[in-house]
Amino acid sequence: MESKKIFLSSPHMSEEGYEQEYIKEAFDTNWVAPLGENVNKFEEEIAKYVGSKHAAALSAGTAAIHMAFKAIGVEKGDIVFCQALTFSATVNPIIYQNGTPVFIDSEKETWNMDPKALEKAFEKYPNPKAVIVVHLYGTPAKIDEIKKICDKHKVPLVEDAAESLGTIYKGRQTGTIGKYGIYSFNGNKIITTSGGGMLVSDDEERIAKVRFWSTQAREKERHYEHKEIGYNYRMSNIVAGIGRGQLKVLDKRIAKKREIYETYKKGFSDIKEIEMRTRARRNKTKSLVISNFNKRKF
Ligand SMILES: Cc1ncc(COP(=O)(O)O)c(C=O)c1O
Repeated sequence: MESKKIFLSSPHMSEEGYEQEYIKEAFDTNWVAPLGENVNKFEEEIAKYVGSKHAAALSAGTAAIHMAFKAIGVEKGDIVFCQALTFSATVNPIIYQNGTPVFIDSEKETWNMDPKALEKAFEKYPNPKAVIVVHLYGTPAKIDEIKKICDKHKVPLVEDAAESLGTIYKGRQTGTIGKYGIYSFNGNKIITTSGGGMLVSDDEERIAKVRFWSTQAREKERHYEHKEIGYNYRMSNIVAGIGRGQLKVLDKRIAKKREIYETYKKGFSDIKEIEMRTRARRNKTKSLVISNFNKRKF
């Protein structure tokens, strides 16, 4: 018997074919590589959508996290506080920079970094170089409290918003509250470019520096000159074209998530062991987390 596989969050290109229009334009003008109009515009459009001043389009969300740590200056021996419940890509870039991750446990309400555990970590390790929080499954962390603690200790906060593009927390998009925010456009994200990521920040100088590092740190000379270690982390003009097309249907995808949420809520309404979480909001909609912790109030 043929098995019917249901994919988890498979890519969903626009019904209108927007992505192909941008790709065609890149082909027609021969701006296939390396950079080009689509990359510049995709950065501008994402920055505008989330309400950040600047954005750097990169090859992956992981690359964006790496560049955030490099921009902060994480180096050998530096401690970085990192959310414990997450995908490994949140923590790997700490190691790329030869830093030491210290894992902070999650709280039960959002499954994200527990502000109380974070406070405790500061007592034990008073001088971390950075904190990285995650908005796992699109549910925002208790970011107000976490930001307040980071500000008190004067430590920069990175938001791993790889899974939460479009999630609004008290009127602000996740990814724009800390010093740096990152988004992922890999195949299972709410919009995809096949693979890609974005680093956002209000710090123009640091974002420019990230673009420099991500294009092999090549100095502005006619010959090849390099004074720093560089990376090949930039997004291509074709990939950015897919992103521009996908961005046009992001609100539609969010509305669909809401519809799915309501379907589950209705379907599970008479099963008391399943409680639907309603606090998180994706663009004024509710994001879905099924919790099996009965009798909890959200
Ligand atoms: C929480 C989280 N952080 C980071 C990443 C890394 O993103 P990418 O796959 O684009 O490198 C992902 C994606 O899987 C993720 O879910």
